[in-house]
Amino acid sequence: MTAPRLDWLAGTGGPLRGDLRVPGDKSVSHRAVMLGALAGGTSEVEGFLEGEDTRATAAIFARLGVRIDAPSPSRRVVHGVGLHGLQPAPDALDCGNAGTGMRLLAGLLAGQAFDSTLVGDASLSRRPMGRVITPLRAMGAHVEAGEGGLPPLRIYANKGLQGIDFKSPVASAQVKSAVLLAGLYARGTTRVREPHPTRDYTERMLAAFGWPVRFSPGEASLEGGHRLRATSVVVPADFSSAAFFLVAASVVPGSDLRLRQVGMNPRRTGLLDALRAMGADITVEAAGEQGGEPVADLRVRHSRLRGVHVPESLVPDMIDEFPALFVAAALAEGETRVSGAAELRVKESDRIAAMAAALQALGARIVETPDGAIIQGGRLRGGEADSHGDHRVAMALAVAAQRADGEVRIRDCANVATSFPGFEALAKGVGLGLQADGPVG
Ligand code: S3P
Repeated sequence: MTAPRLDWLAGTGGPLRGDLRVPGDKSVSHRAVMLGALAGGTSEVEGFLEGEDTRATAAIFARLGVRIDAPSPSRRVVHGVGLHGLQPAPDALDCGNAGTGMRLLAGLLAGQAFDSTLVGDASLSRRPMGRVITPLRAMGAHVEAGEGGLPPLRIYANKGLQGIDFKSPVASAQVKSAVLLAGLYARGTTRVREPHPTRDYTERMLAAFGWPVRFSPGEASLEGGHRLRATSVVVPADFSSAAFFLVAASVVPGSDLRLRQVGMNPRRTGLLDALRAMGADITVEAAGEQGGEPVADLRVRHSRLRGVHVPESLVPDMIDEFPALFVAAALAEGETRVSGAAELRVKESDRIAAMAAALQALGARIVETPDGAIIQGGRLRGGEADSHGDHRVAMALAVAAQRADGEVRIRDCANVATSFPGFEALAKGVGLGLQADGPVG
């Protein structure tokens, strides 16, 4: 299904003020449905992200024979069928725009006694799957992809998986998770080592569902042959959704905004460090825990930002936040350098190219490099900028427009609903100048 095209018209709003809570974490929501489905018993998920990506994952499990009730928005009750209780679906399973959905499911489905096909939308169909296919094949899985290792993925019935000791060439939580999920069905030990630690939600959630798993930053291992037991999952608010407001309130004069109960897993909060190094005024308040994850309120006030050289070691901890960071850099004083971030080229869009083209269209001076960009801070003007159908590029440009000299038309914003349904209303409610223009196609 192709969504009708939706443009945004964005321009100077007021200062950002007030309080808001952004929707639930996308990574945690995907995993809660997956593990709930494979557990014995009924799992409750509170704070589930009602985004298109995570709803696609829930719909896939419904097609695999799992009853999932939605008693109210952001709640799911997953009636688990046990590790071996999934049923084959008669035709392809549609992951939509979700790389997390497809890559994690590739691992999970490699363990099943039946064949499956995974497909995705145009963007997902351009994203590399070789990174999960290689380790899964090494475990004995039979997985086929389209030309060049791209989707669709055909995953054949499990004829006996074997644990591996996998040294991943990329720092990717999706790759790690795919291998660990296949490892649930494998003989012996499955171990993943990463070049840099990535988010550990799969490991934490497996433990919460009662599966013995050993993990430390950069490494995780488990044995096959245990069982998952139903539990309740409380999903924290998504730091990556909060990120747009952290930048918006930092760059719009007079802003003073509180973001409530944001997930603060240290593998996600790299942007906080980067923004603070740029001079942002962000304070962490009411730090606590929710569902085993650190959460906190973030108070952000306007301040003058200056350019920085983002340390490469910070890149994996802010991998989804570069569209927002690029906007902060374009509005800061001086030069910002990003390197070691080639992964940005294989996200929902090529985020280096998409952000460079869009910010250049608004008058920014930004030079692409193979693995990053060099951005000179300055003024932005109104005009037209293309999000390339990438949710995070669209939201980042809406933030940039708040400081542009004229109105900005942002093209192709419908995919914001994949990760942040209701962004427009929430953003307008705290002062962002933003208006939908469409659907038009
Ligand atoms: C995710 C991992 C990251 C991130 C994505 C969500 C996850 O991708 O960019 O938005 O939930 O595991 P990579 O594993 O490709 O880095």
